[in-house]
Amino acid sequence: MSSSSRSHRLAIFGAGYIGLVAGACFAELGHHVTVRDIQPERIRQLCAGDVPIYEPGLGDMLARNKERLTYTLDADEAVATAEVAYICVDTPPTASGDADLSRVWSVIDSLTHAAHLKAVVVKSTVPVGTGARIRQALDAAGLAHVAYASNPEFTAEGRAIEDFMHPDRIVIGAEDDATVRLVHALHHGICAPLEAMDVASAEMVKMAANALLATKISFTNEIAALCEATGADILRVTRAIGQDHRLGPHFMNAGLGYGGSCFPKDSRALRAIASNTGHPFQLLTAVIEVNELQPRRAVQRLKTELGHLHNQTIAILGMTFKPGTDDMREAPATIIASRLLAEGANVTCWDPMARPHTNQPPWNQTHRRPTIGDALTGADAAIIATEWPDLIHTDWAAHRRLMNGASPVLYDGRNHLDSAVITAAGYTYLATGRSTERPASDRTAQTITL
Ligand SMILES: NC(=O)c1ccc[n+]([C@@H]2O[C@H](COP(=O)([O-])OP(=O)(O)OC[C@H]3O[C@@H](n4cnc5c(N)ncnc54)[C@H](O)[C@@H]3O)[C@@H](O)[C@H]2O)c1
Repeated sequence: MSSSSRSHRLAIFGAGYIGLVAGACFAELGHHVTVRDIQPERIRQLCAGDVPIYEPGLGDMLARNKERLTYTLDADEAVATAEVAYICVDTPPTASGDADLSRVWSVIDSLTHAAHLKAVVVKSTVPVGTGARIRQALDAAGLAHVAYASNPEFTAEGRAIEDFMHPDRIVIGAEDDATVRLVHALHHGICAPLEAMDVASAEMVKMAANALLATKISFTNEIAALCEATGADILRVTRAIGQDHRLGPHFMNAGLGYGGSCFPKDSRALRAIASNTGHPFQLLTAVIEVNELQPRRAVQRLKTELGHLHNQTIAILGMTFKPGTDDMREAPATIIASRLLAEGANVTCWDPMARPHTNQPPWNQTHRRPTIGDALTGADAAIIATEWPDLIHTDWAAHRRLMNGASPVLYDGRNHLDSAVITAAGYTYLATGRSTERPASDRTAQTITL
C-alpha cells in the first residue's frame, strides 16, 4: 500500500514477539513505524536486517516493508513524529502472580513530553484496571488531550502474522467513539469484526479468553488421565466430542500441559486479580494446578515404566513450548528436564529452533544434540515434549537401534505419532491418555456413511 491519508506514523514500544509482528504488519498495511526497544543487541540486529526472534514469515515482511520501518533505542526519537504510541512490552508475573507492569510504566514515563501524540494504545496484556491508572498518569503529566485505548492481541506464536492480518475480531477498548475510530483506522485493510467497548472490558476480554483456552486444555488433560486409568482412548474421545458444534475441536489436544509466555502468566494474573478482590477463582485455581501437575505426571509414568530414573539416559525431543517458535518461556520441557535431573537421570535433548538460556538450569546440565538421532544415541527412553513435524518423518526403526535395550520406551507426550508405526518399529510406546496397544487405524477418520 502506498503512502496516503490512510497511512499513519506509529511508535511501537517493544521489539518482541508481539511488538515486532505488530510493527511489521502495520508497515505492511502502509503505516510508517518506528520500533523502540531497550536491548541494544536487538536494535542492532534489526538495523542490520536480521530478525532477533523466530516467527514464520516475519523476516520477509520486515524486509518487504523496510522503507516504512525504523528501529531505535531512543524513546524520544521513536515518538518524535508519531501520532500513536503502541505499548507492546513484556508483562511478566511477579512472585504474587500479579503482572509486573514496570516496563509499561517505564514507557508511560518516557511519553510525558510527547504532547503531540493523538493516542497511547496498550497491546501488552495487562490486568483489568491498568488503563484507568494509565489515564490518570497521562492526565497528571499534562496529557489529558491524548486519547487512551486498549487493543489486546490474540495472535499465537508460530502463526502470529496470519493471526494479525486475519484476526477473528479486533477488540478496541476506548473512552470514546473517536478513539475507537482512530485505532480501528490503523487496521484499514484487515477484514474482521470490530468489538468496541470500554477499556476495562477490553482488558478483561484478553484475560478471560486465555483463561478459557487454558481451561479447555486442563479439562482435556484430566479426561486423558481418566482414559489412562480406564482404558479409554483420548484421541477417540476428543475427536467425537469436538464434532459437537457447541464445543468444537480446538484446544482439546491432551499433552504435557500448556506453556509459553501467555497462558501460564495470564491465568495466574487473573487468579491474582480474583483473589485480590476477595473472589477466589476456584475453577481457575484447579486449571492451573492440573497444568502444573501434567509434566510431573509424565515423568512419574516414565519412572514407573522404567523402574527408576537414576543413571538412566532420557532424551527430550522438543524443548519449545510449542512447534513453530523458538520461545522457551514456561515450556513443559523445562519442568520435565528439571524433574529428570532431580531423579538422577542424564538428559539429552533436541530441538530445531529452541533458544534456551543454556547457562541456566536445567539446560546447563543437559546435553543438547544437533539431530534427533544424536539425542537418542545411548538413551534408555525418550519423551516427545513438542510436536515438531520433523518427528513424524523420522526413521524410528533406524533410531531404535541407536538406543539402549531391545524395546526402549518412547513416551509420546503430545500424541504426535502413530502408535502402530512406533510399536512396529520395536518401541514400548506410551502416550498421554492412551493405553499402549491400539489397532493400526487408531489415528484415521472413523466416519462411516450409512
Ligand atoms: N507472545 C505472545 O504470543 C503474546 C500473545 C498475546 C499477547 N502477548 C502480550 O504481549 C506483551 C509482549 O509479549 P512478547 O511475547 O512480545 O514479549 P517479549 O518479551 O518477546 O518482548 C518484549 C520486548 O519489550 C522490550 N522492552 C522492555 N521494556 C521496554 C521499554 N521500556 N521500551 C521499549 N521496549 C521495551 C523488551 O526488551 C522485549 O524485547 C506481553 O504483555 C504479553 O503477555 C503476548
